[in-house]
This record gives sequence, C-alpha cells and structure tokens, in this order.
Amino acid sequence: MTTVGIDAVEIWAGKCKLDLPGTFAPAKDEDPDKYRKGLGLENSSFPDVYEDIVTMGANAAKRLMEREGLEPDDIGRIDVATESAFDNSKPVSTYIAGCLEEVYEDDFHHANKGERKFACIAGTQSIDDAYNWIKAGRNRGRSALVVATDTALYARGSSGEATQGAGAVAMLISEDPDLVELSTEQGYGSADETDFLKPNQQFPSVDGKRSMQVYLARMREAVEDFESVAWDMHPEDFTYIPFHTPFPGMVRKAGLLGYRHMIRDTEIEDDLAGEIGRQPREGEYEDWDAYEAAIRDYMDELKGTDRYQAWYADTIDPTLSIAREVGNWYTGSVHVARASALKAAAEQGRELAGEKLLVGSYGSGAQAEIHAETVADGWKEEIAQLNIDDQLEQRYDLDFEEYEQIHDVHNHDMTVDVEEFTTPEGEFVFAGRGRMNERLYEYVE
Ligand code: CAA
Repeated sequence: MTTVGIDAVEIWAGKCKLDLPGTFAPAKDEDPDKYRKGLGLENSSFPDVYEDIVTMGANAAKRLMEREGLEPDDIGRIDVATESAFDNSKPVSTYIAGCLEEVYEDDFHHANKGERKFACIAGTQSIDDAYNWIKAGRNRGRSALVVATDTALYARGSSGEATQGAGAVAMLISEDPDLVELSTEQGYGSADETDFLKPNQQFPSVDGKRSMQVYLARMREAVEDFESVAWDMHPEDFTYIPFHTPFPGMVRKAGLLGYRHMIRDTEIEDDLAGEIGRQPREGEYEDWDAYEAAIRDYMDELKGTDRYQAWYADTIDPTLSIAREVGNWYTGSVHVARASALKAAAEQGRELAGEKLLVGSYGSGAQAEIHAETVADGWKEEIAQLNIDDQLEQRYDLDFEEYEQIHDVHNHDMTVDVEEFTTPEGEFVFAGRGRMNERLYEYVE
C-alpha cells in the first residue's frame, strides 16, 4: 500500500526577536519568571519591516524546493494555512506561487491552490487535504506543498501579547516520504466554541483562561476518538508527542493529561499506586464536581513522580526547544514541535526510523485532531538540513520601543514609516502595494 506523509520540512523564522524575560517583562513591570518558568518562553520572533506571511512562506518554500531539487512541475497543489490573511478572496498561496515564479523559469499554472482556515489546526488540515489527494490517485505523481505561515500578533496590552510570534513552516507531502508517514487513523474533538476568534479584525478577541480549558477538553475528546479507531495507547508507544504549542506551559498541561489517560489500567498505574494511589474512577464519587476535584489532586501528585518527570523529559520536552525561542506561530506551531523533536534526536545520534510519534493539533473555535506518524528512513538526512539554529542566532534583538514600532508596522490599520532592522539577502521581500491594493513582492539577491 502506498505510504503518504511529510517528505521534507523547512522553517523560516521572523528576523527580529523580543526577549520576553529580559525586555518585555521589565517594561510591563512583571516578574521575568512568569515567562521563563510559567509560560516557558524566552523569546518571541517578529517579522522585520519587509517581512510578512507571504515572504516568510515563500522563503521557506523556496529553500525547501531548492534543496529537494524540485521544479514547479513537481508540485500539483499549494495549500496555505494561515490565521493572518489580508485578503478575503485572493488566497495567500497565489502570492507565494507568484514569488516562486520570480525565481523559477517554469510556473505553477497547473497546480491547485487554496487557503485553509480553522485557526491553528489549519496547517494539519492542509496536510490532510494533500494526503487525501495523493491517496485518491489525483496527484499524477506530483507532491503537494503545504505552507503554514502566520504573524501571531495580539493587541498591545492584551493577555495574549506575552505569547506572540511569527514564522512559516513549508512541508512537502509525497508518496513514500523521507520524514514521517501519516497514520490513516485520526481522532477529532470538535465543538462550536468562542475561546479565540478574529471576527473581521486583525488582532484576536481572546478569552485566554477559557481557551486553555477548551484546548484540553477538545484534545481529550480527540484522544478518545483516536483510540476508538486505533488502539488503547500506552505512554511507551511513542518516542515523541508534539502538540500544538501556543506556549510551552500549555503543553505541560496537555502532556500531563495525556499521560494520566494513557496509564489508566496499565502496569504504570499499578506501580505508582503505592506512592500516589490509584486514579479516581467516576463511579466512586457522588457527583461530577467531586470526581473532577479528585482527578485534579491525583494529577498534582502524578506531576511530581519521578516516573512522570522522566517520561515528560524524554517525550515532550524535546518538542519545545524551538517554541521557547519563537513563541506561537499558530498554524505552524505543531509542525515546529515535530521538527524540534526530530532535531533533538538527530543531535543525540538516535536512530528513530520505524518509531512512532503521536501528533496533537489544535485550533481555537475549536477542534483538536490526533494522529500517529511513523518516522521514515530518510528522517536524519532531512532534519540535518534545517538551519533554524543559525536563523535564531542571527535575529535582531528589539528593545521595547523598537518592538512597539514593529508591532505598529504589522498592524494593518496603521501606516508607519520605520527603518528595517536587518538587511535582506537572498530572499523575498514586501515591496509595497499595487493599483488594486494588492501586495507586491520582489526577490532580493
Ligand atoms: N514564576 C513562575 N510562574 C509564574 C510566575 C512567576 N513569577 N508568574 C506567573 N506564573 C505562572 C502562572 O502560575 C501560570 O501558570 P499555570 O497556568 O501553570 O498556573 C503561568 O505562569 C501564566 O501566568 P498567568 O496565568 O498569570 O498569565 P496571564 O494571565 O498573563 O495569561 C494566558 C496566560 C491566558 C495563556 C495568556 O498568555 C493568553 O491569553 N494567551 C493567548 C491565548 C492562548 O495562547 N491560549 C492557549 C490555548 S488556545 C490555543 O492554543 C490556540 C492559540 O494558539 C491561540
């Protein structure tokens, strides 16, 4: 049977950064540990003046195509996932294809282009679309290019301002992939929620605390749905579990919930019983509130056990290393988490081919999706080609006033004249607006 999955991945980080404990916290008169320890963030990435969702996506896609030796004819679909689109009609994928056509002789006239929207889960949904297109045999031997690109900015002074970020992930979806093969089985948890939304406005309306509850509730539903079609999961089934990462502190909560679920009725629950007791069972309590309170107490105890902490350090923590340095990339975030984990494994010289990942995607509004992935033989060569460490190292470190300027530059409601902080080289840049208010781009050698 044909295997389909992610053949290659590229990451493009916004070229500026904001040091959250060092610059943001003091300006807000907050304790730096809220960022470092609480949210789990060191820096946010921000786009320079000449960057936006198109340039970041096109730059990631160009690098991916070049190193895979691809020509436009090899690509049969270009799907862009974003929550930061600036046009309700013309999809960002047309802009990205237009950029790429500036540097390739051929064009993408026979590629199907689109834009996917469901908050942060849209990147994973675009991969699904590509998977289905290939499995249906409609791809004519071609691959799909999926680009998840966002400038995840919040209104200044809002709670979300602490968790901003900007960057793009480009992924090639192909038959017989080199990176990971996707499971056919998927689980969904989906409900009409108003936790985070952008009703024709640039910056989100967000109920931050509630959004965290919704994330966990939908994720739990998705896990149960996945198990109903796959198998009852055990923590040792997966080498890594990349989750959607709005900030690492959120994943700490999701990881604990997932572990508790997976150890139920296993030898791990038995082994831990002497230390922290057994998990509460609903039937043992008079009402739901009492049961939930008992579960919370059990989770507090579980969190402190050596067994859980070792599992978390091995399985979850490696997925967070890039997120700590870049913040939330919305649609790209879970794909950054996967790349972080594989990169960590490569750095440790591990052999992962054939091992399994469990991937937990989430989009506000709200939907979670769970699927498994099997690491493919070519993963190490693929992941070795990422240059994300160099990109992060080279970012311009904004002071607070410069951060406010950059935030204004990327506020569609404002026109401000700010000098660029970095010099573009070998990349696409925003070059102003055309006669129909379209955005224009050019390639800078
Ligand atoms: N030392 C150590 N820890 C500290 C601390 C200190 N000095 N000060 C605070 N903390 C801890 C807090 O205890 C808290 O941790 P717990 O949740 O584990 O208790 C954490 O740091 C954050 O502190 P606060 O709750 O006080 O922070 P806040 O009120 O500023 O809000 C937030 C946090 C609600 C997540 C806010 O950042 C926000 O609104 N973010 C945007 C929404 C979001 O990301 N939601 C996530 C789920 S929705 C989603 O995933 C979709 C998406 O991408 C948007």
